[in-house]
Amino acid sequence: MQALSVFIFSFLLSGVSSLQPNIVVIMADDLGWNDVGFHGTDQIPTPNIDALAYSGVILNRHYTLPTCTPSRSAFMTGKYPIRTGMQGNPIKCGEPRGLPLEEILLPQRLQKAGYITRLVGKWHLGYHHSEYTPTKRGFHSHFGYFNGYIGYFDHKIDQGDFIGYDLHRDLNVSWIEHGKYATEIFTQEAVDLILSHDISKPLFLQVAHLAVHSGRDSQLLEVPNVDEAHNKFKYIKDPQRRLYAEMTSRLDESVGEIVTALKDKGILNNSIIIFLSDNGAQTIGMHQNWGSNWPLRGLKFTPYEGAVRGVTALWSPLLKNPHRVSSHLMHIVDWYPTIYAMTGGDISDLGEIDGINQWSHLIDDSNSTTPRKDMLINIEEENTIEGIIDGKWKLVLSTYNNGSYDNYFGEDGRGLPNPAYSIHMVLVSNVFKSLQSVQSNNINNINQMVNKIKQLRKEATINCQETERKYSEGPYCSTYCLFDIENDPCEEKNIVLNYPIITEHLKNKLKTFRSLMVPELNKPVSSAANPKFYNNSWVSWLDEKYINQSKFYAVKFSVSEAITLKVCISYFLFLLIFIYL
Ligand SMILES: *[C@@H]1O[C@H](CO)[C@@H](O)[C@H](O)[C@H]1NC(C)=O
Ligand SMILES: *[C@@H]1O[C@H](CO)[C@@H](O)[C@H](O)[C@H]1NC(C)=O
Ligand SMILES: *[C@@H]1O[C@H](CO)[C@@H](O)[C@H](O)[C@H]1NC(C)=O
Ligand SMILES: *[C@@H]1O[C@H](CO)[C@@H](O)[C@H](O)[C@H]1NC(C)=O
Ligand SMILES: *[C@@H]1O[C@H](CO)[C@@H](O)[C@H](O)[C@H]1NC(C)=O
Ligand SMILES: *[C@@H]1O[C@H](CO)[C@@H](O)[C@H](O)[C@H]1NC(C)=O
Repeated sequence: MQALSVFIFSFLLSGVSSLQPNIVVIMADDLGWNDVGFHGTDQIPTPNIDALAYSGVILNRHYTLPTCTPSRSAFMTGKYPIRTGMQGNPIKCGEPRGLPLEEILLPQRLQKAGYITRLVGKWHLGYHHSEYTPTKRGFHSHFGYFNGYIGYFDHKIDQGDFIGYDLHRDLNVSWIEHGKYATEIFTQEAVDLILSHDISKPLFLQVAHLAVHSGRDSQLLEVPNVDEAHNKFKYIKDPQRRLYAEMTSRLDESVGEIVTALKDKGILNNSIIIFLSDNGAQTIGMHQNWGSNWPLRGLKFTPYEGAVRGVTALWSPLLKNPHRVSSHLMHIVDWYPTIYAMTGGDISDLGEIDGINQWSHLIDDSNSTTPRKDMLINIEEENTIEGIIDGKWKLVLSTYNNGSYDNYFGEDGRGLPNPAYSIHMVLVSNVFKSLQSVQSNNINNINQMVNKIKQLRKEATINCQETERKYSEGPYCSTYCLFDIENDPCEEKNIVLNYPIITEHLKNKLKTFRSLMVPELNKPVSSAANPKFYNNSWVSWLDEKYINQSKFYAVKFSVSEAITLKVCISYFLFLLIFIYL
């Protein structure tokens, strides 16, 4: 009897878990709108990412926050950053703050729902105390870095004279990968985790790549073989952009390897794969990476489309009508309830959030009503950056860096001297081959597929009136600008004076959001975080095990500094006396 009930119980359990899909999120960092082939560029081939997009749904109006920390906090909580105090500047190295502990993060929800949860790569949501790090916040494991970026090979990040290594395995500093290319070690880790996964449980894997963020300030763009990159992309004029192209290419190969691992493990037929960038590219300026958001306006940090309308696609064999471009509004906060719904969770568990469950719409868009009609783009206190979308209207206020990131940047990458776009490369990519092995679809022959790809690529490409765009001087929106974002996706025509009532309405909506805002949690960098106290690595410096270490050094340093000072003063006095004599 007991044996029977155990049997039935375990049968039920395994029945439940086999229904829950594996969820793999591949998050790129600062990837430009125009740096994937499916958005119409010929310059940087991304056959694997393109294959994923064409085989699933291209989410062409998916919005993020304009920078890393706010975007990642929104993904993890389903809340706009203004509700958690995570708006504004990304967390600095050694800044004693993180995503507040009372927030229940997505991986915590998924762990409770029976998932094995893994994070590979970037965190950037706080580590001053280890309670704030990934493995204390819902991830069974983490291999990656705590800060905003690291050098691609040396895995170090510097902030002024604070220089330290930042690659961790759970709570330990992981030195053995020192010198190995970041995109490769994160891919290898993801592949190993997939291949060793216990398939009696569903997997949640988030691969948060360093690519294609710039590396350390002293060496922004890094690739495994510089000569090879210059040769491969010699048709690109700017040598730095050639390196960016190679970094993007490595990211694309990573997507191929991860999808192939899912196939080899036999779990691709029950997986959902989400590819997205946390925000747009930073073509010039601080942490520039030579990426391109063309023809969208603006760079990372701004409220313009180039910063917040990110490269996004989703694939799953569960999709009822794949091979489409969705132009419905989606915001990065929506993934929290959407992923929870994918796992079979009841979204009423989630309490008050800003995210909207988009799963039924994503899986089958025959219901044409769009679940989201409006969204907050951003409000910040330190920098005047505001943005809101309601239907076809977008209101923007932007003064970041005196508007120097507000214009049009980056290459269009179309036509000569770039090579012609190769659909063949897409069809022979690792992703395409893997997906074909499990996707039953209504496209029967290769010609039909080629035509479908051409059509999807055309649909996913944004065309703007180039002449107007090129010669428009601003207008910098240091006072409110209004755009018809459906008909003017490149934010060329400020129509704020033509629509005073709509402008007022959007201002009022912003005002309501502002009244809900929790003050930004940013804090001064802590001197006790200095990596020199911890074997030149960034650690959770407020943990009990480290706290005496910095005190010990602080005492030692102040003693030695005091001695130095005394010596200096005596020397000075001595000199004075000597001169006097
Ligand atoms: C971290 O280091 C401790 C002590 O050496 C070790 O027991 C533990 O297994 C390590 N954890 C990981 C994830 O490597
Ligand atoms: C996926 O494929 C595996 C191996 O072929 C099979 O055992 C499993 O039942 C399939 N799962 C689904 C959901 O189709
Ligand atoms: C269509 O979507 C709306 C909004 O999500 C929902 O309320 C409605 O029930 C859906 N209708 C069908 C037939 O699924
Ligand atoms: C912005 O412009 C003002 C006035 O020209 C100048 O004082 C300030 O330093 C500039 N700020 C930045 C971030 O460039
Ligand atoms: C200290 O750092 C070096 C690399 O600079 C590393 O090889 C060594 O293992 C570290 N020591 C400890 C105790 O972590
Ligand atoms: C740190 O120092 C305090 C006071 O000197 C001591 O009580 C405490 O045990 C020390 N903690 C560790 C982890 O060594």
